[in-house]
Amino acid sequence: FLLAGTGVARAEFPEKPITLLVPFAAGGPSDKIARELAESLRKRLDKTVIVENLGGAGGTLGAAKVATASPDGYTLLIHHIGFATAPTLYRKLPYKGIDDFAYLGLINEAPSTLIGRNSLPAKNFAELRRWIAADPTKVNLAHAGVGSASQLCGLMIQSALKAEMTSVPYKGTGPAMTDLMGGTVDLMCEQATNAVPQIEGGKVRAFAVTSKDRMKHPVLASLPTLAESGLPDFSVTVWHGLYAPKNTPGPVLAKLNEALRGALKDPELIKRQEALGITVVSDARVEPAAHKKFVEAEVARWAKVIQAAGAYAD
Ligand code: MLT
Repeated sequence: FLLAGTGVARAEFPEKPITLLVPFAAGGPSDKIARELAESLRKRLDKTVIVENLGGAGGTLGAAKVATASPDGYTLLIHHIGFATAPTLYRKLPYKGIDDFAYLGLINEAPSTLIGRNSLPAKNFAELRRWIAADPTKVNLAHAGVGSASQLCGLMIQSALKAEMTSVPYKGTGPAMTDLMGGTVDLMCEQATNAVPQIEGGKVRAFAVTSKDRMKHPVLASLPTLAESGLPDFSVTVWHGLYAPKNTPGPVLAKLNEALRGALKDPELIKRQEALGITVVSDARVEPAAHKKFVEAEVARWAKVIQAAGAYAD
């Protein structure tokens, strides 16, 4: 350190590797997006960015680990709409809530898809709807735990169909996808990030997209929206954001936000995300105050959906 007159100059952050915690198992959409981002942040910060997976309880275990980590900028959380639903869903949340975090910016938005095992006796959504209606409890619906994007989307589909299916929870939709391809589970609402390669490879059957409008993406363009398939106003888009523990020093947050903004302008990263049906957010949304405001609005919006469904975690 150099004594800079008024005191010791802080060593330039970052001076050691950064951990990017993914609150779901490896192989899922959150993990895929995190590894893309980690590579781009490494280039900008010139330090290793280690991706660590900690699944469980719909992402709340991973979020809690970051909420209670030392606020030095070396432990970050990537998370999606589950970050905004946990405070309503979990009465015993292992952290205080969205104010336990510093906001580094939104990252992207991805539609979800309704996909099923190839051996299902339904070829399209109309046939699937009839098959489910025959006996909803025999339908095994995979998801990544209460509060995960897959579970919330599944909840909305069940409410819209007035059909309560059997839930099969996993630590992430990565492992869930393996069982769906193996045919040991029936259905899943999965983000395009993870679904597009499997639909393209013919490993799962796609029934619909959950976005308000049809997707332009070549693999998704032929899929109807759930809204046009008889579930009026159905619309689920999964957004991801980046967080640090609250009380992380301002200059550190500014450095991380600058690196995130740079990463999300990387044409290679944008191209790879768009190839999976993902849209990187505009620069104005990669801004802490806008990010926090968006999350607060999402907390309120999803609270209504959860309270209407009475779908609280135990
Ligand atoms: C994952 O990465 O496993 C997903 O984000 C889980 C989910 O939220 O459905």
